Amino acid sequence: MFKEYQPTNEAESDVHGKISRTDMLAPWTYRSEELTALELEALFLRDWLLAGHASEIPNSGDYTTFNIGGERAVLIRDEEGRIGAFHNVCRHRGSRVVGADRGHCRRTMVCPFHGWTYHLDGRLKQIPSPGTFAQLEIASNGLIPIELEVWHGFLFIRFRSGGQSLAARLAAVEEKVAHYRLSELLPLGSRRVVELPYNWKLIHDVDNEGYHVPSAHPSLHSLYGRDYRDSLMGDVPISTARVDKNVSSFWSVDHYKKLLPSFDHLPPSEQRVWFYFAVFPNLVFVLYPEMVEFYMTVPVSAGKSLMIGQCFGLRDDRRETRAARYLNQRINEQTAREDENLVLWLQESFATSVYPRDNLSTLEFGVAYFHRQLKMKLPVLGLEMAPQAGHLAARTQKMLNGA
Ligand code: FES
Ligand SMILES: [Fe+2]
Repeated sequence: MFKEYQPTNEAESDVHGKISRTDMLAPWTYRSEELTALELEALFLRDWLLAGHASEIPNSGDYTTFNIGGERAVLIRDEEGRIGAFHNVCRHRGSRVVGADRGHCRRTMVCPFHGWTYHLDGRLKQIPSPGTFAQLEIASNGLIPIELEVWHGFLFIRFRSGGQSLAARLAAVEEKVAHYRLSELLPLGSRRVVELPYNWKLIHDVDNEGYHVPSAHPSLHSLYGRDYRDSLMGDVPISTARVDKNVSSFWSVDHYKKLLPSFDHLPPSEQRVWFYFAVFPNLVFVLYPEMVEFYMTVPVSAGKSLMIGQCFGLRDDRRETRAARYLNQRINEQTAREDENLVLWLQESFATSVYPRDNLSTLEFGVAYFHRQLKMKLPVLGLEMAPQAGHLAARTQKMLNGA
């Protein structure tokens, strides 16, 4: 059975003691296109977004891209080996400067439209027919930089710069993640991008609690159901699950338990732990013993989201490690399939006249905590009814000004 949720510090007991109807977002917040546009601006573009890992662009001229809410970013390694992040918008007339999602530029980035040429560090180098421009300063027409923070090798960008650093935000999990040598990770396969017919918040609502695991995910439950716990580390939501050694009737789970080797980089306490932590608003990291995975949502519209995920691992050629990584993915794919209908049925419930919000278990505090964070950042999310069409932005401004 699940362990009872035990708050271990003040922040946790605060969450524990006050779960209530008022925490839960009203159904309109999952269905409003106007709100989704506002969320993109206020929650996503103003916060740290994961755009990749340094190991994906190991050589000078390698680049990767990340697009969201109309914005386009290119992250590229320059001749000195430094990584820079820029708007992938040519300073001439706005074309993409790099066209592929990922690739390599030799020495310079050349815009495919009219051939403006940029150094790998974003400076404009030269343009065709410079004499045909009345006034154009090469020096002030480099690609426009985007704020970049490299956190243990992971590349985070913030389109609207300013505010807390990511390292400060994640300070509470720093000690925990140190064992995993994240900056040395290498990609295991390419990025998965799937479009799902759900609101982005709903995907997290289902993901943010373990209360449904015994009922909805029997194989996951048989993997770690006896020792699973959701809590907070500082104010970072975490889940810790310990893989037991009991026989399982599920093939993948049973073999995973038996084959999982031990890992020199982990202390004894972490050898069989799956550790999840969330980075508001849209990202979850999972530190497994044998690899590291992230998954995140990107809103496309009120009822559509991208789910983006990728696995990384330290160099380890052992057969057991390869097997464990494969079995892990089989278990997680099964879990994702089991969630599909549940998310769909919740999404449908927003259109009914009796959507329930009163009965939340303490085991679901992660849902309430996520909603509370959302409302703190974007107070309009606390409204019971949708503001009149066209009034959302004005209402948001008023609420932020305390009116
Ligand atoms: S838009 Fe890039 S060179 Fe013209
Ligand atoms: Fe689930």
